[in-house]
Amino acid sequence: MRPTSGVPANVPPTRDPLDPTGGPANAPTARPGPARGNAAVPGRYEPQPPVSAVPQQPTSQSAPDVVAVEVAPADTPPAAAYGAEAADSTYVSRETPTREEDDPPLAMEAMRAVQILNPSGEVTMPRPERTRVMCVANQKGGVGKTTTTVNLAVALALHGNRVLVVDLDPQGNASTGLNVPHHTGVPDVYDCLIEGVPLEDVAQAVEGIPNLWCVPATIDLAGAEIELVSVVARESRLARAIAAYPGHFDYVFIDCPPSLGLLTVNALVAAQEVLIPIQCEYYALEGLNQLINNINLVRQHLNPRLEVSTILLTMYDRRTRLADAVEQDVRNHFGDKVLQAVIPRNVRVSEAPSYGQSVMTYDPGSRGATSYFEAAQEIAERGVKEPVSRNA
Ligand SMILES: Nc1ncnc2c1ncn2[C@@H]1O[C@H](COP(=O)(O)OP(=O)(O)OP(=O)(O)O)[C@@H](O)[C@H]1O
Ligand SMILES: [Mg+2]
Repeated sequence: MRPTSGVPANVPPTRDPLDPTGGPANAPTARPGPARGNAAVPGRYEPQPPVSAVPQQPTSQSAPDVVAVEVAPADTPPAAAYGAEAADSTYVSRETPTREEDDPPLAMEAMRAVQILNPSGEVTMPRPERTRVMCVANQKGGVGKTTTTVNLAVALALHGNRVLVVDLDPQGNASTGLNVPHHTGVPDVYDCLIEGVPLEDVAQAVEGIPNLWCVPATIDLAGAEIELVSVVARESRLARAIAAYPGHFDYVFIDCPPSLGLLTVNALVAAQEVLIPIQCEYYALEGLNQLINNINLVRQHLNPRLEVSTILLTMYDRRTRLADAVEQDVRNHFGDKVLQAVIPRNVRVSEAPSYGQSVMTYDPGSRGATSYFEAAQEIAERGVKEPVSRNA
């Protein structure tokens, strides 16, 4: 039953209030070969071991700062221990500063904006032969899952692809970002999962973006984790709903909550591909082994065609050697699954949702928009070169 008001008392939190990965379990082990940019500063950032080698995280919520203290010389200020070059006590903006060569003249910026908004429909991204269902997952919170879902979906839709976004997070951030109503009472993905309502009855066209639809999430979805437990075929409710959708989409993006519960399992069973956004920060790889283990379990028991197809580096801050080192680590481990396009930390990206927009439409000339455009293009091109098995 749909809860009549608010969140039921027995609903678990939708995100872990404390990141379960915090802790010094994978205390840095020096890796041979300097990571790009940090060779001259031993001890500032120690790359993580490959995900498969990362030991299970301790259950205790130990203070993460211990790691910095261990790797830094005693007199190193904490910021420097994390690799930040601007380690003094002065305030430093979180946005990657623009270097002159990246600050295009207005004409160049306008040209990029036109290319991204594509009003004439001239610029197209190749359409896959069959629907690509991509689950955007990472149980770590705030790494850019929703931002990635929204911006890739808009970029692909603006360039000739039919796209559906399924908001599978009770926070409803993807619905907000696409300006799709998702207040209590709006038919949503909860109805599809629990009541068996067809997706087409709840999907809404996204205003201003042709070829883009969104299945919103309301706060009711918070109860679904509990209610799904007693539902028949609880892990494959979403897969069935998507398979039954007659929309013939090129892409279905599923925006997952920051947890590995039944909602995320539903997304993994429904998808053929997993897209993992990884934030270029110190703890980026911690906890990833848990996600990879879950993906392997789902592949073994529920969805043999599932694969991690795409890794996207987000919130890259090039002022820091840390970002470089994390990038190197991720590329070493995941190889060509990592997109060449990297998303910089860019204030326009974070402003866009408050206007109910993606950065593609909010500021199409910005570096955030350009990077997401490039990422979408790469995903589209890869999908044509190496088509994965698809179901629709
Ligand atoms: N490239 C970027 N530059 C600046 N800010 C960003 C960027 N990408 C995301 N953000 C901001 O970081 C925050 C977290 O992003 P987002 O909501 O996409 O993460 P998430 O992984 O979906 O979070 P959750 O786990 O809570 O669902 C948001 O405030 C977003 O606007
Ligand atoms: Mg999110």
